[in-house]
Amino acid sequence: MAKKAKSQFVCQNCGASVPRWQGQCSECQAWNTLVEETQETNTKRGWAPTRESDLPTVLKLSTPIEAQKVSRLSTGFSELDRVLGGGLLPGSFTLLGGDPGIGKSTLLMQMAGGLAKSKSRVLYVTAEESVEQTALRAQRLGVKEESIELAAESALEKILTLAETRKPHVLVVDSIQTVYLNEIQSAPGTVSQVRESAARLLQLAKIHGVSVLIIGHVTKDGGLAGPKVLEHMVDTVLSFEGDSTHNFRLLRAQKNRFGATNELGVFQMSGKGLLEVTNPSEFFLEERSQSLIGSVVFATMEGTRPFLCEVQALTHYSPMPMPRRTSIGFDANRVHLLIAVLDKFLNLDLQKQDVFINVVGGLKLQDPAADLAVMAALVSAARGREIHSQSVFLGEVGLTGEIRAIPFCEDRIREARKLGFTQFFVPASNQKHLNINAEELKKEPKATLRYLRSIQDFAGILSGSKKTEFVGPDLPNF
Ligand code: TYD
Ligand code: MG
Repeated sequence: MAKKAKSQFVCQNCGASVPRWQGQCSECQAWNTLVEETQETNTKRGWAPTRESDLPTVLKLSTPIEAQKVSRLSTGFSELDRVLGGGLLPGSFTLLGGDPGIGKSTLLMQMAGGLAKSKSRVLYVTAEESVEQTALRAQRLGVKEESIELAAESALEKILTLAETRKPHVLVVDSIQTVYLNEIQSAPGTVSQVRESAARLLQLAKIHGVSVLIIGHVTKDGGLAGPKVLEHMVDTVLSFEGDSTHNFRLLRAQKNRFGATNELGVFQMSGKGLLEVTNPSEFFLEERSQSLIGSVVFATMEGTRPFLCEVQALTHYSPMPMPRRTSIGFDANRVHLLIAVLDKFLNLDLQKQDVFINVVGGLKLQDPAADLAVMAALVSAARGREIHSQSVFLGEVGLTGEIRAIPFCEDRIREARKLGFTQFFVPASNQKHLNINAEELKKEPKATLRYLRSIQDFAGILSGSKKTEFVGPDLPNF
């Protein structure tokens, strides 16, 4: 087959290629991302007829698939199993992305230990550290199973041959940016290398039925390094997130061909590696302070799972013409919006006040249902009054002061009841869809639901306080 080497300039951000160098990528508009790469191209087009025996087998959809063929491997972490959609599927190709030092290698090493306990053979190939370093760390993590094999190698051809001879059930490659194919001239980590390496590993997964997991680095702006094509190629993209100042880690499925996306797994980094947090609500409310001024509990939905977190607000006099609005873990634009709504409809004047919002534990709330909780925390802080410690606020706030319905209202309420919360402030429009009946609410702990139509109804919520008198009208009884 006639081949010729062709030089191209490939954007390291989006993977687009152009024949000549230019400063800005014409596809994704990124600057200085074009790198020269030589690509082997086949000059021959079309295809030669294939013998019938070489053709793939065709499956009729009416054929029943044997259950054991799709049985999933348990990773030893129920949190990881859930994010994967019920365990690791044989022959699947998974990408785990995350910031450096977040714990990707640790997670996959501990996963190898879990897989080995359920009789799976694992080959862990590291192209970043030495075998001794990796082995030492694995042993410190308590991973000592015989069926786990370690190798330090960065030439992908050798890794593939090793995988074919050792025949593991699961292959881990740490990381895709540091392995390279000899036949491609570009440096490791460039688009061509990453794309071709991933394609070879994909073949290994699909032809030999090995579950392949690759670790991917994240660039400064949070995207996975390497081209988007990597994300298209794999079955599952997991991202491991966290805050360097907090020891909890969140594992999310951004894409999953074999399960639901937006599933969330919560882990905690400890001296002995990663521990699962099976009850995140307790974890995030652990350090709730005694003073409840400016502190409100909210039940957020992460994927299919509700969990509770604390939203705090602080307001403080500011002599500046433009007081500060600082928000950590909640969209700052929404804080501006909520302040405007409070000013307009509840006469809560914050024009001479700095406003700080913080979601405790380093969580980032994207759920619009958090509006009401942020608003409650703000009102409590600005008026210096407590909110009943057992209350939970759920609702999205609109510009006309209306409180809008939220999804998964029951799930959130049930989760909060498990932890003993009894007062629920929920949007009135959720009432007719709510499947929680009066009987259920009478069970211990006895709970009351208060339905709010607009933020005028909300004015009386500070009444739960022992210290203070009522603010605004009493809540109407619904
Ligand atoms: P690592 O898995 O090497 O991160 P990544 O592969 O994502 O770069 O984890 C490195 C960090 O985790 C390091 O800063 C130390 C911390 N760590 C612990 O706190 N406890 C442990 O038991 C281990 C193994 C790591
Ligand atoms: Mg690592």
